[in-house]
Amino acid sequence: MSMDKIGLRFRTLLAVGTITFSTLLIFTLIHQNSIFYFVDGFSSINVLSANNNPNATVLKQGIKDHKIAYSSVDNKVLGDKDQNVMPGIFQQRSEIGPKTHSLEDQKKDTSQSSTSIANDQFLDGLLVSTFDEASCLSRYQSHLYRKASPYKPSAYLLSKLRNYEHLHSSCGPRTKSYNKTMRKGSKFSKDDAGTKCKYLVWTPSNGLGNRMLTLASAFLYAILTDRVLLVKFGTDMFGLFCEPFPDSSWLLPRNFPYWKDQKHIETYETMLGNSKKKISKELLPQFLILNLQHTHDGHNNFFHCDQSQGRLQKVPVLILWSDQYFVPSLFMIPSFRQELSKMFPEKDTVFHHLGRYLFHPSNAAWEQISRIYEAHLAKANERIGLQIRVYNTHRSPHQTIINEIIACTLQHKLLPELDVQKTATSLLKKRTSKAVLVASLFSEYGEKLRTIYKTSTAMTGELIKVYQPSHEGRQKSNNDTHNIKAWTEIYLLSLCDALITSPKSTFGYVAHGLGGLKPWILQRAYGETIPNPPCQRVMSMEPCFHYPPKYDCKANNTVDFTSLFHHMKHCEDVSSGLRLVNAN
Ligand SMILES: *[C@@H]1O[C@H](CO)[C@@H](O)[C@H](O)[C@H]1NC(C)=O
Ligand SMILES: *[C@@H]1O[C@H](CO)[C@@H](O)[C@H](O)[C@H]1NC(C)=O
Ligand SMILES: *[C@@H]1O[C@H](CO)[C@@H](O)[C@H](O)[C@H]1NC(C)=O
Ligand SMILES: *[C@@H]1O[C@H](CO)[C@@H](O)[C@H](O)[C@H]1NC(C)=O
Repeated sequence: MSMDKIGLRFRTLLAVGTITFSTLLIFTLIHQNSIFYFVDGFSSINVLSANNNPNATVLKQGIKDHKIAYSSVDNKVLGDKDQNVMPGIFQQRSEIGPKTHSLEDQKKDTSQSSTSIANDQFLDGLLVSTFDEASCLSRYQSHLYRKASPYKPSAYLLSKLRNYEHLHSSCGPRTKSYNKTMRKGSKFSKDDAGTKCKYLVWTPSNGLGNRMLTLASAFLYAILTDRVLLVKFGTDMFGLFCEPFPDSSWLLPRNFPYWKDQKHIETYETMLGNSKKKISKELLPQFLILNLQHTHDGHNNFFHCDQSQGRLQKVPVLILWSDQYFVPSLFMIPSFRQELSKMFPEKDTVFHHLGRYLFHPSNAAWEQISRIYEAHLAKANERIGLQIRVYNTHRSPHQTIINEIIACTLQHKLLPELDVQKTATSLLKKRTSKAVLVASLFSEYGEKLRTIYKTSTAMTGELIKVYQPSHEGRQKSNNDTHNIKAWTEIYLLSLCDALITSPKSTFGYVAHGLGGLKPWILQRAYGETIPNPPCQRVMSMEPCFHYPPKYDCKANNTVDFTSLFHHMKHCEDVSSGLRLVNAN
């Protein structure tokens, strides 16, 4: 598509966006009946999912159902693929043929084979089935909303997870080893260290997106180093997730000796400094702070060096301070490399697998997720997620971002062009629907887009519905209600079929990583100018590590790691960042 053409379409869209109130009113009056017809038709249609039943028997059954239902009150409609099977059948009454992912519909649909349900439900073996279903509904129900992932976990990853679960339940909170190790002041000799349970304590820092990225990184580090991951959740995070590990808890008990005050714990830098002077003969610190925060000066100097790992390995309790997705650092460490290749033959699936393994919405969050999903997303043929994070609204005004989003959706055919003149005829052509989910701190985005798609119809005749669940105004990282809303939206975005996200947003990274999606990332906009191109598709679904190390441990000088590893590339949205890609 040429830029001229896009420009032209833009002007049309802008005209539509700023349409006067009177025109709006007239339009609504004239078409009120049709609009109501379609909206109403939507909510009452009970649909059979063709998507999850790629089985001829099921389809035939569906068509049979449809014929029967057609003459009855409850009309079932098949997905658009199936319209080819019996052409014309939908034209008499309704052209809408959405596939559904509605939970209610799928609960009724018992024709799916039980093995494929089990595979879907337990994410190809990532999850174990031993949890109490009522304690975590999302664990058992998320497969009804999320398409089966095309990325399968390796058998080796599954075996590492099962081993980890075993370790966690034997060393976790309230076990004998836990009680012994977590006692303040006890000293361990070097010989002791190898035989005891070791721990990695995760602490929160920065917003929810960053926290989830570091949790996944910490979990991988724990697996690689045979440590038990314990999380120091305050009240702002208690209500978000289910317990991920069977027969134990990942919550750090409140009687952890350094729950409040970690000032007097040795840090890893001081240990490195000491060891240069004089390696302490027998005694190792029992607790050690590993500071990988991006704001910390020494944050990325030596963690990725094998010698550091050799030293850290012996410390019983590591307390991690990080707000970064530091998984790429782990891939730089020679002693981990082989394990990582076996666990992740597809290197761009690390967060996708570990994230889906770890992060199950709590029942409170799941209630919100399923309510919104059922009401606004389930019945659409396609779900488009827009995640709009604007750090500086003066530098890039809302209208510029809206224009940029529209340019992006047009260029990549995510949303259709609008038909400004022939609204009446295109209403009749209407056949499919798209739901647009807007996640933003500001209400302007949802409102503007809703207005645009409410007042005009698409050239293609598609029905576009815009929904924005919340607009918090500003980020409140330490507030549980706020965090539940944020988590709900991250999760809903991850259920979409396509995503457009903002640059440098960890919120967006978590959503596309969980969803197994490669999003289109908006280019940073300045002033009124719409960047060209407005957005760029990322090459990998992995999150970006914003502040990666630059030190080559072997050569003792600065290096660009993309020159050493083919499976690391600079991020599209943060040029100094690193992203794992699927290469050897
Ligand atoms: C469809 O599914 C049924 C039961 O789930 C199975 O027995 C049958 O072989 C499947 N048919 C095809 C064509 O895959
Ligand atoms: C560990 O300590 C907790 C209390 O802090 C106690 O309830 C628990 O029984 C202890 N576990 C063992 C195995 O002694
Ligand atoms: C937390 O955020 C919610 C809205 O997200 C707000 O209603 C509530 O007042 C906030 N609570 C605190 C303690 O700031
Ligand atoms: C690494 O390089 C610095 C100077 O760039 C030097 O001071 C230091 O001694 C070197 N370290 C090693 C282990 O060679």
